[in-house]
Amino acid sequence: MSGTLRISICDPDESSREVLKKFLIGMESVWLEADGSSYDFFPDIVAQATPDVAVIDLDSDEEKALALVETLSRAHSDCGIVVVSSRTDGQLILKAMRSGAREFLSSPVQLDELMGALDRVTAGSDGSKRNNSGAVITVAGSSGGVGSTTVGVNLAVALAQNPDNSVALIDLDLALGDADVFLDMMPDYTLLDVAQNIGRLDLALLRKSLTKHDSGVYLLPRPVQVEDSLEINAESFQKALGLLKASFTHLVVDLSKSYNSLDMVALRASEHILLLTQLDLPCLRNVVRLLSALESQDGLKDRVRVIVNRSGLDNTQISSQKAEETIAREIFWRIPNNYAIVSDCRNNGVPLIKSAPKAGITHAIAELARRLSGDESVAEEDMPKDKKKNWLPFLNN
Ligand SMILES: Nc1ncnc2c1ncn2[C@@H]1O[C@H](COP(=O)(O)OP(=O)(O)OP(=O)(O)O)[C@@H](O)[C@H]1O
Ligand SMILES: [Mg+2]
Repeated sequence: MSGTLRISICDPDESSREVLKKFLIGMESVWLEADGSSYDFFPDIVAQATPDVAVIDLDSDEEKALALVETLSRAHSDCGIVVVSSRTDGQLILKAMRSGAREFLSSPVQLDELMGALDRVTAGSDGSKRNNSGAVITVAGSSGGVGSTTVGVNLAVALAQNPDNSVALIDLDLALGDADVFLDMMPDYTLLDVAQNIGRLDLALLRKSLTKHDSGVYLLPRPVQVEDSLEINAESFQKALGLLKASFTHLVVDLSKSYNSLDMVALRASEHILLLTQLDLPCLRNVVRLLSALESQDGLKDRVRVIVNRSGLDNTQISSQKAEETIAREIFWRIPNNYAIVSDCRNNGVPLIKSAPKAGITHAIAELARRLSGDESVAEEDMPKDKKKNWLPFLNN
């Protein structure tokens, strides 16, 4: 199954409803959007929650339940309906299918059967899987201070400029993260609040708990207290990530440099892993080590894009060609060096797009955002290079 599925359940019988809920809550790719105990009110729930799949148990009142299936299949053709019943005679199955059910499961439901049904219900007519979830882009660094937060924050802002995108930035540098500084924000809630309340949050509540920056980016910062970073475990973060994926088109994750279990959760969920490096030996050596570590994780290595930050920093840097030979990989993108502009952006908490909209570095990150969104026409070679610094500071912007 791919993507996060938003599901609503209708079952007047509390005990069987709880069993179903437990199954669904335990699935990584599923978000339980709402559950109803009345066939009569369930159409309202579906109209409000607009789930991808509605699971309806027929046992409490077959006639009513089948009428509900028919109503929903007419009114919400994009919501797949799965029915559950302890009766499995052919007549009932036929009736359910004719009413608009896409899958029929016999109760007590088995987990693998439920997963199979959900997979089939969400497959497109061409057999392709529907992708209901946002793209996770992790920004990983090959060394401390390589520029992960600078690139992550400004990439999130660049992505948010497209009105079709909804973007959240997650600061996974739990002890010392500073994404909030880059955006000059003091959000009320942190990753700790979301992780601790994951069982009680729904999509609407989650959005409300995140603070929106002027650029459109929603920020989920690291916990306030350093010691609180230990309170977030991989399991609750995985759930939080699932919920966030269901709620945003893009999640940009600023990884810690410790590659701990939470970082691994983000990496595994990623569509793109941006591995930032500078063109010096310690960084490139770590790129090789990280690529080798990711190779042992299913398919992760193929999602890595090596990004050179601070390109052109000085002429003692290793050449791109030599770097590519060393890491046995192409450099996907280069982001020019411009310390004055970047430190201004960081110290004032104003993203590059606003503080230096015409600078080469801003353009490079904006075009990287377009490229990651699937725009193949953007070539890194066409990037304007940052001009030599002028001694008149205002000419540098
Ligand atoms: N393209 C760039 N040009 C010039 N300076 C840069 C560039 N990118 C980042 N910097 C500078 O490098 C330093 C580190 O940047 P940043 O905090 O983004 O790195 P980081 O990898 O997130 O660090 P940490 O490991 O502490 O999380 C900052 O002083 C920043 O101003
Ligand atoms: Mg950082």
